[in-house]
Amino acid sequence: MTDWTTDSNEALSISLVRSDKDKESLAEDETYEDFSPSFTYPIYGEDEKIYGYNDLVIDLRFASGSLAPYLSVNYSEKLPSSSTVDDVEGTLSPFLPPGYYEDEAAFLMRIEEDATTFKPHGDLIHTYTRPSPSALGKGKGVAPLSPEHKDAVVYEVYHATWKTSGFREYHRRMQLFILLYIEAGSYINEEEDQWEFVTLFEKRKRRDTPDVATYHFIGYSSLYNFYHFPEKVRMRLSQFVILPPYQRQGHGSELYNAIYAHIVLRPDVAELTVEDPAEAFEDLRDRNDLKMLLSNAQFMQEGFGSDGVGGGVSHGGGKVIKGKSRGVNVNAGRVGRGKGKMGPPAEKGWVEKWRKDLKIAGRQFHRLVEMLIVLHLD
Ligand code: ACO
Repeated sequence: MTDWTTDSNEALSISLVRSDKDKESLAEDETYEDFSPSFTYPIYGEDEKIYGYNDLVIDLRFASGSLAPYLSVNYSEKLPSSSTVDDVEGTLSPFLPPGYYEDEAAFLMRIEEDATTFKPHGDLIHTYTRPSPSALGKGKGVAPLSPEHKDAVVYEVYHATWKTSGFREYHRRMQLFILLYIEAGSYINEEEDQWEFVTLFEKRKRRDTPDVATYHFIGYSSLYNFYHFPEKVRMRLSQFVILPPYQRQGHGSELYNAIYAHIVLRPDVAELTVEDPAEAFEDLRDRNDLKMLLSNAQFMQEGFGSDGVGGGVSHGGGKVIKGKSRGVNVNAGRVGRGKGKMGPPAEKGWVEKWRKDLKIAGRQFHRLVEMLIVLHLD
């Protein structure tokens, strides 16, 4: 018997649609279609239920690069209109940019147009490569190829602000992913000038026309800059999302490291902080910050009498020794220094000097030093 109630997370089906020509260069198992949201409560309410339909499918598609959206609501049966039957499209549409497509043929035409004309907005700040999945299987852990290599897929990271031409409209298309994937995520205020954005795209060559680059959206981060006495800003990473088809392949780490490198280079930014990180993001941040410290020979030599090599941030899964490091008091103890090894120098200000130079927020830097102490305890 039908109870006419549907789980809104299950009903909503999200796709990133590539043009037919772009699909030709995908591996057989590479798909960017029909994935689910983690949350729909900001849209359909706390209990994430939709009432009044049978076999409900909310088909929400985006052009893979330009993110032009298309929405179609399908079902096999609907209860006769009454005040208890939910308005599926009417509830979702205020969260979408105005003018989304409802006509499939028009949407598919837009995909073909955008495929070769769409370019990411803003300034390119980082590029990396992976072997294409069709050539070598999913690229994680495989040595990067030069961008010119025929089997390389290039990934590009861009920096933008509200002033970047066309970016405001682009942001209106991508912001829905914040609601769908970040718990307690919400739309930001477009009137606030302090926002900055970093976006990540896959850049592919077409088989028949390798000189034509096509771009596909992977994820983004929003950062807010606060005044930092006397003449700098503190950058707070506020939102960060990698879309499900691209998760657990190292793209989040690349985006985070690109943001960090950008901030270290910017003379106007004093430090990078993170707003209320989710646990998975905290792990990502710890792993990447630790790697960065372990590869800083001077820091490791001065602080731990080690060249950092073999310091060992486990990447085999599990957590970054978080639990173990609790209770080691960096400010007071200088653990293990008596044996001429392990803890950072007792000189006042050593930790703070490095923290400022590396532009890492206080709490995070002290946690990292604690983790390194634990890693270097005999
Ligand atoms: N659970 C636990 N740890 C995770 C997860 C997860 N689901 N995903 C990534 N990590 C950690 C792991 O330590 C991982 O290392 P490992 O793969 O060797 O175990 C490390 O992060 C690096 O993984 P990446 O492949 O680089 O990360 P990914 O590209 O998947 O991005 C992210 C991770 C950003 C959390 C992504 O899964 C995502 O966007 N999730 C949904 C939205 C979200 O939670 N965003 C963060 C909100 S917090 C904020 O915005 C400030």
